[in-house]
Amino acid sequence: NTGAFTYDPGFTSTASCESKITYIDGDQGVLLHRGYPIDQLAEKSSFMEVAYLLMRGELPNPNEYDEFVRTITRHTMIHEQLAMFYRGFRRDAHPMAIMCGVVGALSAFYHDSTDINDPVQRRIASHRLIAKMPTIAAMAYKYSVGQPFLYPDNSLSYTGNFLRMTFGVPAEPYEVDPVIEKAMDKIFILHADHEQNASTSTVRLAGSSGANPFACIAAGIACLWGPAHGGANEAALEMLREIGTPDKIPEYIKRAKDKDDPFRLMGFGHRVYKNYDPRAKVMQKTANEVLAKLGVTDPVFDVARELEHLALNDEYFIEKKLYPNVDFYSGVILSAIGFPTSMFTVLFALARTVGWVAQWNEMIEDPAQKIGRPRQLYTGATARDYVEITNR
Ligand code: SDX
Repeated sequence: NTGAFTYDPGFTSTASCESKITYIDGDQGVLLHRGYPIDQLAEKSSFMEVAYLLMRGELPNPNEYDEFVRTITRHTMIHEQLAMFYRGFRRDAHPMAIMCGVVGALSAFYHDSTDINDPVQRRIASHRLIAKMPTIAAMAYKYSVGQPFLYPDNSLSYTGNFLRMTFGVPAEPYEVDPVIEKAMDKIFILHADHEQNASTSTVRLAGSSGANPFACIAAGIACLWGPAHGGANEAALEMLREIGTPDKIPEYIKRAKDKDDPFRLMGFGHRVYKNYDPRAKVMQKTANEVLAKLGVTDPVFDVARELEHLALNDEYFIEKKLYPNVDFYSGVILSAIGFPTSMFTVLFALARTVGWVAQWNEMIEDPAQKIGRPRQLYTGATARDYVEITNR
């Protein structure tokens, strides 16, 4: 009670939502997608199959899988007018700035034909978003390096198509490396969905007003960009590179523990996980595999493993239950594959689009759904009369 009003302690109930898609147990370090553990999906499934699972609730049988992939593949091209949007950006524009702009612009092409109250049109919009994200992401990379855009080659897998559009050039044939394709697909699976994180909540809140799904996903991309959220993968690799050698690690751990120093260990800690992020475990294992298979030795990976070891044996991190999260090792793999750090969060957004789309559909399909309205606890001035400027 503050005297002026009694705030409703129950208001926190409007700040949460019900969902059947993803379950996280932060204390146990458990992550389930429709009941399936993330490590099993990462090792045994594919990103397209996980997209189906998140959207439909069950793993597909072979015919359902083939039909889903065929449907997604049909939508990989973008409108030629949309390609002109890229030319409005400076070449050194951050690819995430381009993603915010171009994905938002999809509304101008599909908004009028997307009645979100029609389940068929919702499904078409969902397929368009999932299918076009790799094309838009690859074009953002191509534009930043001054190379020509490549059209999708739908004879390739979803992930193989993305790799070719990103790293292929018109002058030479491009062979998708199965090692890289598998690692990339696994990374997409690990980033697919994560319950009600900041960007997913942004998509849900935007969608609760009835905004079209293309604009909602663009809002999610903008939120994901923050270094406390999806932008941490870019920041984590830059931090590891700045540390440079294992002997410099203690200095950075000291800074991370200093309350007066804004420095945080990027890729460490989590709002929910107070145990090891299960995705980080798979990511570390994948980093090991990819570097070995590519014959790449990256001193940054050694710094990452030593930093993890020292931090996990430091009383500050133990007491505050801070562990590596999904962003700690992903940059090592993405860098080995050939992506610049500026593309790391774009890849996160590409993968998280399936989670955002699944969560958006779940919300729209809920008949009890109302417009989101997070409550506030007012701590400002109590009522008072206006004072003329001549009397102030
Ligand atoms: C993602 O929500 C999701 O699900 C997100 C995500 C997803 O898939 O969508 O998992 C993806 O965003 C992962 C997180 C990526 N961000 C980073 O790696 C940035 C570095 N991490 C920190 O900024 C931080 O850990 C957050 C933002 C992730 C969480 O911040 P919180 O909620 O403040 O963490 P906390 O409450 O557990 O912190 C407890 C204490 C605090 O100190 P005190 O106030 O108790 O003194 O630990 C400190 C924090 O200041 N702390 C850190 C730290 N993270 C927390 N200290 C040093 N280094 C860190 N990384």
